[in-house]
Amino acid sequence: MSRSPVCINDFEKLAEGILPKAVYDYYSSGADEQQTLKDNVAAFSRWQLCPRVLRDVSNMDLSVTILGQRVSMPVCVSATAMQRMAHPEGEVATVRACRSQGTGMMLSTWATSSIEEVAEAAPEATRWLQLYIYKDRKVTASLVRRAEAAGYRGIFLTVDTPYLGKRLADVRNKFKLPPPLRMANFENLDLSFSKKDYGEDSGLAVYTSSAIDPTIKWQDIDWLRQLTKLPIVLKGILRADDAREAVKHGIAGILVSNHGARQLDCVSATIDALPEIIEAVEGRVEVYLDGGVRKGTDVLKALALGAKAVFLGRPALWGLAYQGEEGVHKVLQILKEEFRLALALAGCRNVNEIDGSLVKKGTWARSRI
Ligand SMILES: Cc1cc2nc3c(=O)[nH]c(=O)nc-3n(C[C@H](O)[C@H](O)[C@H](O)COP(=O)(O)O)c2cc1C
Repeated sequence: MSRSPVCINDFEKLAEGILPKAVYDYYSSGADEQQTLKDNVAAFSRWQLCPRVLRDVSNMDLSVTILGQRVSMPVCVSATAMQRMAHPEGEVATVRACRSQGTGMMLSTWATSSIEEVAEAAPEATRWLQLYIYKDRKVTASLVRRAEAAGYRGIFLTVDTPYLGKRLADVRNKFKLPPPLRMANFENLDLSFSKKDYGEDSGLAVYTSSAIDPTIKWQDIDWLRQLTKLPIVLKGILRADDAREAVKHGIAGILVSNHGARQLDCVSATIDALPEIIEAVEGRVEVYLDGGVRKGTDVLKALALGAKAVFLGRPALWGLAYQGEEGVHKVLQILKEEFRLALALAGCRNVNEIDGSLVKKGTWARSRI
């Protein structure tokens, strides 16, 4: 494609032409038959918008607060591992783009730039650390301490990954990090995912089984809470009872997520899971969503169904592969403008004017039930 990208899907086509096959496969894949991967995107179109008219939308404010921090729009960047495979500046480019767009970035535990490097690249950016709990709790605690010291504003604890989902392309490709890249938050060879050989499986699946703690349970949330004063968000909740349990454990927020359809396949699209989580938490904690957000109208639908903000996974990677920092900046800019337009065309001047009456399950979906 020779013309400039004008929507998020254009970036994916461009990135596919740029990235080595094994890297594109790793970024794009979902688990198993990828049923949820398709549905995360498709489900948005089963919800319809119900706009208000004649509301003077000449002055717009898109900003919102997340865990008390104001960001320029309710669209932030989610944790995606190993971004230097997409561009030599990786996570450093992403955080700079987030800063220049006034929005927040969640850094993966499995980043190819360290917690400190990303903080130094954009000290004033709103940054959160995505955390995996390692079998070695000293390793986990040290990640949290480093995030505190480097000015991160919260911990997004991923709770849907006791083991890695089965991503067929990664198994076929025996996926591992291309040398000399490594997971930059770790010094030793085993934890930095830079061994030469992981056998016949996806290298990342082997790494996860050896390093990540599959025993984690609700008491571990209490352990993490007593370890840090940073607000904790559980990333990967899909059910009302788990959401209520999370609230009981004193967390600050819930990210409704199915890990970009990369863990358990055949689960709900996140936009379909969102309403029951919103109902369950009764406004006691902030709720966000990620998975399949590709357009401004997707953002509006998620907010109308009760999310405080949404996060982007793959779209940022496509921007990064295309043009590094500038590419991520463009992805965020396009979504910001699309969201501004959707909000105005729906008759809202700011996010506080969004309510549940702006969205309904489409007639097409109802006729199929
Ligand atoms: C290539 C890739 C790597 C990811 N790495 C992580 C990770 O390290 N930790 C994590 O909690 N989630 C990870 N995720 C899940 C994302 O944080 C997010 O939930 C998901 O990508 C959102 O869906 P979307 O890609 O459709 O926007 C990853 C997703 C992708 C696509």
